[in-house]
Amino acid sequence: MRMSDRRGERRAARVEGAEWETPSIKSLRFRDPILSEALPGQFAMVWIPGLDEIPMSISEIGPGDLASITVKGVGEATRALLGIGAGDRVWVRGPYGTHYRFEGLEKPLLVAGGVGAASLLPLAKAMGAAGLIPTLLIGAKSIGEVPLLRRARALEASGGLKLVPATEDGSGGERGLASEVAERMLEAGDYDSMFACGPEPMIVALMGIAEREGVPFQASLERIMKCGVGVCGSCCIDGLRVCRDGPVFEMGALKGLEDLGRFKLDESGRRVPLDA
Ligand SMILES: Cc1cc2nc3c(=O)[nH]c(=O)nc-3n(C[C@H](O)[C@H](O)[C@H](O)COP(=O)(O)OP(=O)(O)OC[C@H]3O[C@@H](n4cnc5c(N)ncnc54)[C@H](O)[C@@H]3O)c2cc1C
Ligand code: FES
Repeated sequence: MRMSDRRGERRAARVEGAEWETPSIKSLRFRDPILSEALPGQFAMVWIPGLDEIPMSISEIGPGDLASITVKGVGEATRALLGIGAGDRVWVRGPYGTHYRFEGLEKPLLVAGGVGAASLLPLAKAMGAAGLIPTLLIGAKSIGEVPLLRRARALEASGGLKLVPATEDGSGGERGLASEVAERMLEAGDYDSMFACGPEPMIVALMGIAEREGVPFQASLERIMKCGVGVCGSCCIDGLRVCRDGPVFEMGALKGLEDLGRFKLDESGRRVPLDA
């Protein structure tokens, strides 16, 4: 059986490394030969027995059969994952969804809002391996809340990345919202593309900036997911299934989404304002 044929199986993996990125974000590293074949931007469904099964970006893809997830505690399931340590098990299936594409690009700008860096760091690594030097902007409220700094700094030290932390309170890196800093960088630099993952208002702001500056844009979206494979409809936005048609969408598809930045489906499938 090919590895990819097993991606729908729920598999247990022993956590080999658990590292706090910030006081509310933790990375769990484990071995899974199937997730370690994921493409940047794809996600896993992570099962928390007795509680829920939730989507998580695959925040590290290889080397070998290593993979990781990077979890921000926002509710019951994510807080349960924060309680997991080395030696415990995680249950995963996947990888699922679309991935970022960077063929033909030379100078990409990657913009992460907080834990959105989990989706973009593997992209930066893949770009570096392909000989590009992407710029990765990671925004957070303060420097202590910027996730994945250690891994991003290691990639920067190996010459495969330019890292730009951005903080709203100016406690480190560039001062301002990630979208404001990205706008200044796009105006001043010669970037030929922009990639984004993070809060939806940030993505909407960046879409407008990318359109004005005339650079191609891809973004990863988040919606409540139950099946993860295009069957249940819980992740729909304007007729598209984020789990299967996304999570990574190009500008053409994003522009057609009337609910983007405005409405989402809640747990019961009701269309509610995004901040409800
Ligand atoms: C493709 C994809 C990749 C993701 N990658 C990561 C990641 O790498 N790290 C990470 O920390 N989180 C990630 N998320 C978000 C994560 O899945 C949710 O935060 C999680 O499901 C919340 O579960 P909970 O039980 O802890 O919180 P809940 O109590 O269920 O919800 C807390 C709040 O989060 C909202 N929410 C619930 N589920 C989602 C969801 N799937 N997407 C967006 N908002 C949601 C709820 O409406 C509520 O406002 C990703 C989501 C998607 C769709
Ligand atoms: S999560 Fe079921 S269709 Fe997307």
